Order: sequence, then structure tokens, then C-alpha cells
Amino acid sequence: MYRTCTCGELNIAHIGKEVTLCGWLQRSRDLGGMTFVDLRDRYGITQLAFNMETNAELCEKARKLGREYVLQVSGVVAERSSKNTKIPTGEIEIVVNKLTVLNAAKTPPFTIEDNSDGGDDLRMRYRYLDLRRNPVRKNLELRHNMAILIRNYLNNLNFIEVETPFLIKSTPEGARDFVVPSRMNPGEFYALPQSPQQYKQLLMVSGMDRYFQIVRCFRDEDLRADRQPEFTQIDCEMSFVEQEDVLNTFESLVKFLFKELKGLEFDSFPRMSYADAMKYYGCDKPDTRFEMKFVELNDVAKGKGFGLFDNAALVAGINAEGCAEYTRKQLDELTDFVKRPQVGAGGMVYIKYNADGSFKSSVDKFYTQDDLKAIADVFGSKPGDLMLVLCGDVEKTQKALCELRLEMGERLGLRDNTKFAPLWVVDFPLLEWDEETQRFYAKHHPFTSPKPEDESLLEDKANWGKIRANAYDMVINGVEVGGGSIRIHDRDLQNKMFHTLGFSDEEAQNQFGFLMNAFEFGAPPHGGLAFGFDRMCAVFSGVDSIRDFIAFPKNNSGRDVMSGSPSPIAQAQLDELNIDLREINKAN
Ligand code: AMO
Repeated sequence: MYRTCTCGELNIAHIGKEVTLCGWLQRSRDLGGMTFVDLRDRYGITQLAFNMETNAELCEKARKLGREYVLQVSGVVAERSSKNTKIPTGEIEIVVNKLTVLNAAKTPPFTIEDNSDGGDDLRMRYRYLDLRRNPVRKNLELRHNMAILIRNYLNNLNFIEVETPFLIKSTPEGARDFVVPSRMNPGEFYALPQSPQQYKQLLMVSGMDRYFQIVRCFRDEDLRADRQPEFTQIDCEMSFVEQEDVLNTFESLVKFLFKELKGLEFDSFPRMSYADAMKYYGCDKPDTRFEMKFVELNDVAKGKGFGLFDNAALVAGINAEGCAEYTRKQLDELTDFVKRPQVGAGGMVYIKYNADGSFKSSVDKFYTQDDLKAIADVFGSKPGDLMLVLCGDVEKTQKALCELRLEMGERLGLRDNTKFAPLWVVDFPLLEWDEETQRFYAKHHPFTSPKPEDESLLEDKANWGKIRANAYDMVINGVEVGGGSIRIHDRDLQNKMFHTLGFSDEEAQNQFGFLMNAFEFGAPPHGGLAFGFDRMCAVFSGVDSIRDFIAFPKNNSGRDVMSGSPSPIAQAQLDELNIDLREINKAN
């Protein structure tokens, strides 16, 4: 037997006990007469004591050990003279009488401490060492706990977990597919699933009634802190449900997770229409931990001779409470912020509502004190506040003001990571116009049903942009943690939808024929959603990056720097797959 105990379980109650422990050498301190070693495993750290007087040979041996050596020690649990109240094992130490080096270790390239000295790249290259660190390991433990809770919760509600294939047919909608060449079918390719969407709908046709799967999904898209090329969904589908049933079921699941993992209880999650989310927050995933809603100023700000406002489709702003004292430098910083290409505003107008009731603005040339008071009244501002105003075309202004609002929220400490503000955003548009390709795309996916009251709008192309869908997203702290819809289960309506999206009968049959055919054999009304599991873990932990919750993530260029993927493959492998790189290079 390698060990009798872990490094996290011994305390004052075990004094006098003979134990054997295994672990890694975290650090050692040589105090002349005594040598102390911190031994670490997944469960904690236990101090080992070696005494020069009582066992000089063993003490000499201990002094020679390096960081991260793998050790096995036997000894007796003793009370420490200087106690560490910060850790559960801090009152005891092991007086070692036997020491075995199970494996030596090279000095690690960074310190295996909670606050490591290793940069991001280095830690990713040696991810297996990074995973030895407490904060990283704790993230994976949270992920594990959340998965277990979800499985049990859904199992209790009669959901069954069904695995769907990873090698599937490529479909043109959504993000780009990752593709896999088929050796047995030269010139043909599988795609890795962006989500199991069509399979879960087929499972409803099969009568599975309630399905879920904690499943890997693959999308070849530009990466960001909250996007990985392979990520995990909690994918769910239910039969014989309306939108309300789906929202209630999964709101309860998320409340359960908050209760179990964070000890927090919530009332019903607020619901906000997509139209309101855009109008008041400028995006479909508002961070509602703080107010600072957009205020539209077209009526009060136009017609005073300020050309930029007069010619803008939208003049809108936010009120930053208590910020009237902002300095020139701070205001310049904010102007620079909104002018960044990622934010995209041309400039920013400020109006200070001074404590004495007067106004000072960057547009004093055009606006009298009374004009500014009228604007302040629309904002509901009070003396001491700062109004920040942007203008331009509607979408661009909403986007830029959204970024500015988040920036102000950050600066004012309103985006508190220990606070959670979940909500549902509902009534998404069914279709979205794409300027570049001059066609409509499905905003969610082509299987999403229009709201019954908007279905007739499908008849006239001029109305397509106005059709609302039975589609919803769950948003927490400005992160889209999940989304779904009630599906079309009627073959005719689905056909109409494909035509609306510009598919000919033949293309629709070719791409989605198996689903369409299945719908002829009695498809129940159904709907569902998928949560981004990695995102859910990150949001629960108050962290932006989902990478911290993935054991072996990719970097921002989609590379695994530890294993060196992607990488070229051998000519023999290419030959087998009938892929001629010379031809491809020639074509490029
Ligand atoms: P959707 O595309 O909205 O819906 O994805 C569902 C959820 O998955 C998460 N997500 C991601 N997480 C990490 N990295 C990514 N690249 C990434 N892309 C998406 C988000 C998102 O809310 N089949 C539908 C669901 C349905 O209709 O039932 C779907 O995939 O948190």
C-alpha cells in the first residue's frame, strides 16, 4: 500500500498516529537543526519534519530533495510548535522515520504556487504542471461538481443522456465546420458537430421525450476569452412543451446550481425582450448587475445647430452617477476608449451636472444651460452626475454605447464578481439580414419556429426582419450562458423556412433531408436549449476566461502549444486520405 492517508486529512485528532503519505515536494526549509518539507497532493499540504539530532541521516537525505520530487514518507503525527491556522492540517506535522524518493523531478519552469511566477504561454506549454496548482485544480473540481449536479437533476426529471455522433454531415448554416476527410470515401468529408441540434430533434421524433447530453461541440470561429474551438454544451430537448415549460425547467436547474454551489437563492429570473435589450443596453446579453440604462435623446438634443446630433439617426447616452468631478484626463481617456476601432464611435459628448446646479459640457457652444437642463431631465440626472452621449447610425451607436456602459460599470466597481444577475432575453428576431451576402440568415438556427402571431409575416419579404421567434437566451452578468428555441415540427413550415433562407428544394433535401423526412413520420411539438458548460463554470466563478475551466484548452490561435497541434501530417497519411497538398498549394 503506497499510502494510508492523503495530505489533506490529518489534524490534531490524529496525534500519535503512524501514517504513510505520498505527494510532491512543494517547498522545503532548512533551519540547521531541523528541515521542514511541505508535501502536497490534490487534497492539501502536510508538513514533514526531519530532525538532525534524532535522525541525521534522514535529515541529510531530506535536505537534498528538489522541488516537485515525488515522495513517500512514513512517520508519526505530532503537534506543531508554530501553527498555521490557514490550512486544515496546520496544527500538525509528520515526524518522518522513513523517506522514499518515488521519482526525481526537473526544476519546474514556474513555481507551483497559487500565485505562480509563470506567464500564460509558459503555463500553457506545461499545462500538466499548471494543473498541479490549487486555483486551476479547483476550477476543474467545480466543473466536475457542476456536471454531477446537472446529471442528477435532469435524471430526476426523466431526462436521459444519449450520445450522438461526432462524425456527421456538414451543414452550411452557423459557424464554420471542422471537417475530417474520409479515407474509405475518397474526396468526401465528415464534419464535427457544432452542436447535436438535428440529432436531438430526431430523438424527439424517436419518442425519447426528454434528452440531455453533456457534449463536446466544435466550431471553427475566431476565438475570444469566452470562445474555444472545442467546448462543451449541456444540450437539452423536450417533447410536448411550449416556451414557458422550457424556461421554467431550466431556470429551476440554474437556481438549483446557484443554491448548491454558491448558497444563493433567486426569485424568478427577469425576462426582457430582445427589442428592449437592444434599446436599453445596446446588446442581446445585458449585464444587469447595474442600471445605467441607455436614454434616447433624439427629441431634446436635435435642432440646436449641432450638426453631428442633427444628422444622426440616434443620439443616446448614459448617466454616470456621481461622476461630475471627472477630470479632463479621465474624460479624454473615455473619448479615446470609444474611438477605439473595436468600439467604433466617432467621439463622445459629455455633460457635467455640477454640484451647484450648473452645467459644463463639451457642446456648450450649441446648448444653453436650459437646453442642458432639459437633457438632464430626460436622463433623470441630479447634481453631481456626468452624462455621456454618443450619436450616429442606430446599430453602431448602440454597440459603442454598450461598450462605454460596461467600461463605466467597470470603472465604478459595479461589475462585482460576487454578485449574479441572471435573466432571460426572449422574442429574438427569427431572421437577420446580412449586408455582405445580401440575404437573410436564421438568427438562431433554421429549425427555430416563428411566434405563431408573426407567422403570416413570412408571406412578404418586406416584413421578414420583423418576425419574432420562439427563441430565448439565458444571460448571467453579461454572458450568454445558454440559448434555445421551440422548434418547427411541421414539415411544410420547415420547407417554407428553408425557402426563406434561400435554399432550393433540392438544396434543402440534400442538406437537411434526413430531418425533413423524419418529420413525415410523426414529429411531436418540441423545443429545448443548450447551455455553454465552460461559460457556466466561468460565470459561477466570476472569471472571464473559459480556458481556466478546460483541462487542456487551445490558445487564441486555436493551437495546443503543449502537444503542438495542429501539425502537418505524414505524406503516407495524406496519400491514404487522397489529399494532394501539391495540388492544393498549386490552387492557392
Ligand atoms: P448556441 O449556438 O447558442 O445554440 O450555443 C449554445 C451555448 O453554447 C455556448 N457556446 C460556446 N461556448 C464556448 N465556446 C464557443 N465557441 C461557444 N459557442 C457557443 C454559449 C451558447 O449560449 N443547438 C443550439 C441550442 C438549441 O437551440 O437548443 C446551439 O448550439 O453559452
